[in-house]
Amino acid sequence: MVQEHEPSGHLGTAADGSADRAHQTDAAEPTATRRTAGDTESSRASRGWWDRNADEYQEEHGGFLGDDRFIWGPEGLDEAEAGLLGPADRLKGLDVLEVGAGAAQCARWLAAQGARPVALDLSYQQLRHARRIDAEDRARGGTAGREPVVLVQADATALPFRAGSFDLACSAYGAVPFVADPVRLMREVHRVLRPGARWIFSVTHPIRWAFPDEPGPEGLSVAASYFDRTPYVEQDEQGRAVYVEHHRTLGDRVRDVVAAGFRLIDLVEPEWPDWNHQEWGGWSPLRGGLIPGTAVFVCERDRAAR
Ligand SMILES: C[S@@+](CC[C@H](N)C(=O)[O-])C[C@H]1O[C@@H](n2cnc3c(N)ncnc32)[C@H](O)[C@@H]1O
Repeated sequence: MVQEHEPSGHLGTAADGSADRAHQTDAAEPTATRRTAGDTESSRASRGWWDRNADEYQEEHGGFLGDDRFIWGPEGLDEAEAGLLGPADRLKGLDVLEVGAGAAQCARWLAAQGARPVALDLSYQQLRHARRIDAEDRARGGTAGREPVVLVQADATALPFRAGSFDLACSAYGAVPFVADPVRLMREVHRVLRPGARWIFSVTHPIRWAFPDEPGPEGLSVAASYFDRTPYVEQDEQGRAVYVEHHRTLGDRVRDVVAAGFRLIDLVEPEWPDWNHQEWGGWSPLRGGLIPGTAVFVCERDRAAR
């Protein structure tokens, strides 16, 4: 998210600042830049990056996320307390789509509330971790007779579901920051939701794009234009994108959800809590106490069928 030539502390980065180690073992280190990246290039880069880095990502962040908790971002905002999806006792029996689910931690929490979640992700290796967690849980007798989470491997911009299949859709940093055309993704979510259903998603707070993506004091001075929407791209020696994140300003995000047919009900900016001492890439207690790191958009689908 910064104009520099070392990969930055982006979403998939480990606490020690390393990223894409698997990639680096058999190729030169990717370089970071800001340049355009379209739908296909972004999708291909995301699938490759998350497949190569799923093991390390889950090893690094799995403990913080928990196997069956619903954590909205590095601040640790927990759905069990936040209630952004609505009261937990009303989730029972709902068909819920988790978009960009990773190892399906959130979907597992939803299942524990009695919902019927479907966990969708582009990365086979991320979904393999979902299966591993379910299998470990089962071996411990922890699922109490629950079925493993339903997993679907697909791109969030082309959802393989019939119109009106879900009562609720959610995403904790999944897919939305990685796609070139977020309106296309939102329209797909709108299509598969039933009238009046909610769509709640979290992304990096747009203001972060003006600062170097560093957890320390160097991450506190504005270094780039907040208004520059040029994507953050890590590319290999041939100039092929291996990691892409797309920036939208706060106003862009509002316009995107409205263009897709949603009403924005709330925009939550979680504050950094005292108990959280962990760093996650560029997210840290230091920066979290001064500037927002996550934005959670709470949206409702219009009631009329489209
Ligand atoms: C930061 S993880 C978030 C997952 C989970 N909530 C977590 O906190 O670990 C981002 C996830 O989005 C997925 N993803 C990226 N682009 C996607 C796309 N176009 N369609 C579906 N999933 C995508 C990645 O594979 C990855 O599992």
